[in-house]
Amino acid sequence: MGEFVVRGRRRLKGTVRVNGAKNAALPIMAATVLATRPVILHDVPDLRDIRVMSQVLRSLGAEVERHGTDVFVDPRTIHNYVVPAELMQEMRASIFLLGPLLARLGSAEATQPGGCAIGQRPIDWHLYALKQLGARICDEEGRTLLRTDGLVGNDVHFPFPSVGATENVMMAAALAQGETRVRNAAMEPEIVDLAQFLEKLGATIRGAGTPDIRITGCQKLGATEHTVIGDRIEAATFVLAVAGAGGDVVVENCMVDHLPGLWSRLEGIGVQVEEIDAETVHIVSSGVFEPYPISISTAPYPGFATDLQPQFMSFLLQVPGVHLITERVFENRLGHAAELRRFGAQIVADQRVALIYGGHPLYGTVVSARDLRAGAALVNAALMAQGESVIRGREIIERGYEQLDQRLRSLGAEIRAR
Ligand code: UD1
Repeated sequence: MGEFVVRGRRRLKGTVRVNGAKNAALPIMAATVLATRPVILHDVPDLRDIRVMSQVLRSLGAEVERHGTDVFVDPRTIHNYVVPAELMQEMRASIFLLGPLLARLGSAEATQPGGCAIGQRPIDWHLYALKQLGARICDEEGRTLLRTDGLVGNDVHFPFPSVGATENVMMAAALAQGETRVRNAAMEPEIVDLAQFLEKLGATIRGAGTPDIRITGCQKLGATEHTVIGDRIEAATFVLAVAGAGGDVVVENCMVDHLPGLWSRLEGIGVQVEEIDAETVHIVSSGVFEPYPISISTAPYPGFATDLQPQFMSFLLQVPGVHLITERVFENRLGHAAELRRFGAQIVADQRVALIYGGHPLYGTVVSARDLRAGAALVNAALMAQGESVIRGREIIERGYEQLDQRLRSLGAEIRAR
């Protein structure tokens, strides 16, 4: 495994552009299976999960090519409905293929993804939703096989607004007969982006971005071109790096409205946030703050994003006061607290709740990334710490951040990959 080596306490200065969102691009790539003609996607980040999704699509029979940040998918030759087990293990987002494959070929087969560093992550709500549309499901030796003689729109009511399950059922419903109503749907911006893509293909979708989505299926979905939305989590990771380390940075392609709850908290703490336009934000921070206790609980959108919780925790280490973080989306997503303590951070945490005693100096150390966002939190902590830090598990962090070291270096950070 590679490492990032960081020498902290450098002010960050300059401009950084946020890439297209991985979590929007992945379901949209899966949704290309529904199209009858080629699709061109713009601003697709060049990340491992995206490359794995391309491989999965190719294994199903599609033609996939990348030119710069554009990805071209020709789904006309798709004939295979089995998601290869080794690719499923590499990337749990392969589960997004179940809905589209079932809708297009009448069959889909995949191994169940296992748990990961942040929780069990079952797929029962994905399967429930597809069953509601008429899938027959059987499990054989760890593989899940879905079949249908034709999907028919129906009511789907989720017990919790799962992002992935909402996306899966939207894709299947786009080729189902009649209307599907999804209640307690997830409202994340990535859901709205997927809905816009499906509409461009020819589906009729109302209510995306609310808890009540109605999808009217279509017999045939055409071709289209689509630009993926900016990655709100990547944007916020840069913003929090500047807020914590101190600096003066313009963040471009930052969808300001997609980060509710972040800006007011930063301003309360003493970070200057200037919204230049809907996609550009200017951050100025001294990195030194007066006491200001903060309490956040993660929640589905528009609540505080669980994918931002680790980076926010590391930023709070810089803010004097006793802070409270409650993780409500995943059952085991505070593992980074133990790694942050290696920097000298004072944090008490169990599986769901952490108390952070902020405002104490941090010192360079050696830490390991357990998962993608936890890894980003460790890089941000290293940028705030005195001396040199080594963050192991660079590849885990690079699953979500393309050329992170180069982009931070362009802002004046001392970071190198090895
Ligand atoms: C997506 C994001 C991930 C983010 C998460 C929550 C992608 C590729 N990943 O993951 O980065 O952290 O949303 O914002 O977009 N659950 C079940 N059964 C299911 C489905 C989910 O119990 O069938 C539970 C999960 O274990 C978790 C909660 O529901 O506790 C939320 O998960 P979900 O919204 O589905 O997350 P993902 O779509 O996997």
